[in-house]
Amino acid sequence: MNAILENIMTRRSCRAFEKRRIPDADLEQILTAAVYAPTAMNRQTWRFTVLRDAEQIAQLARAVGAAIGREGYNFYEPDTLVIVSNLKTNANAIADAGCAMQNIMLMAHSLGVASCWINQMKDTNGDPAVRALLDGYGVPADHDVQCCAALGYGNPAREIEHSMTAVHYV
Ligand SMILES: Cc1cc2nc3c(=O)[nH]c(=O)nc-3n(C[C@H](O)[C@H](O)[C@H](O)COP(=O)(O)O)c2cc1C
Repeated sequence: MNAILENIMTRRSCRAFEKRRIPDADLEQILTAAVYAPTAMNRQTWRFTVLRDAEQIAQLARAVGAAIGREGYNFYEPDTLVIVSNLKTNANAIADAGCAMQNIMLMAHSLGVASCWINQMKDTNGDPAVRALLDGYGVPADHDVQCCAALGYGNPAREIEHSMTAVHYV
């Protein structure tokens, strides 16, 4: 099978991460894949803010959890959390972020690193406590968080069925 198609077909989301560090060189490749994703009109106005400290990740998760009313919320305690933000004024911010996220997840998978899309900061990044932490981590004030990537080692939650019936040739 084509190697890229095999990588796409075997990637699965992970929701329980081991306490094991992703090597810096692997993380660098994952982030390189992110910035090489396409963007509308090649604007590249995004930022990838990388948290590698467990306490910083936990602190942010607590603030997000409080904002959404979910006690114990923890982003699945990943080794690394990549916060994907973009200019509030960029109408294609979420589309650009989606392209970058897919690159992140597929590059990670090719290196044996598991991943999960984290959506909860999209609607909470305006919460004062969440925003104060984002300010401290250098997420620009004129950016909204579009999504995050939880990265680390672990096994996928479950197998997923996909159907070619979604494809309609005319
Ligand atoms: C836009 C989007 C938002 C998602 N948000 C979350 C999330 O907040 N938490 C989570 O555990 N998974 C999230 N996921 C992962 C999906 O649940 C997952 O991709 C889907 O169930 C298919 O499973 P797979 O990734 O293993 O193929 C999200 C995926 C996408 C594309």
